[in-house]
Amino acid sequence: MALDTTALNRQMTHFDGHDEIWLFGYGSLIWKVDFAYLERRPASIHGWSRRFWQGSHDHRGTPEAPGRVATLVRDPGAVCHGMAYRITPEVLAPLDVREKNGYLREVVALHFTDSDSAEGLIYLATEDNAAFLGDAPLDAIAAQIARAHGPSGANRDYLLNLAEALRALRVEDSHVFALARRLA
Ligand code: BEZ
Repeated sequence: MALDTTALNRQMTHFDGHDEIWLFGYGSLIWKVDFAYLERRPASIHGWSRRFWQGSHDHRGTPEAPGRVATLVRDPGAVCHGMAYRITPEVLAPLDVREKNGYLREVVALHFTDSDSAEGLIYLATEDNAAFLGDAPLDAIAAQIARAHGPSGANRDYLLNLAEALRALRVEDSHVFALARRLA
């Protein structure tokens, strides 16, 4: 199932008038940086966990055989580590298109690893979007990822690239690393 969220994301007015916006990457944005940024800083967001619960029918799978990619789920007390990018607002338009399959912009508090905090954006695929697959046993999630391929390549590469990028940031993510072990 697919839902094109591009138009919905363009209606977001929260950062209207801002010259710069912080964008927090927790998935492909950590390792696939094909957009211009002014600065990047390791950061975290609190109360969220990264999960491979979003279906990918357009990038890492197909409508007939969807892959699984990362989204965030609310998880009180949890901390999700990633990378924050300071960008100009024009950068969002192509990202809205790239991540159009169910992801909506959401405003969050970012905590930079080395000090302060700021308001920023995430792309979030919630459980009410048509491409959401949700939880499943880790072995089943890993098997689905191992099988899936799409226009952007093998689903396993998305997962293994993310695991490698998180290791380079020296952060722990038991869900991602447990899946990566099953696929390595
Ligand atoms: C990210 O890397 O933060 C991201 C994940 C899913 C969709 C868009 C961005």
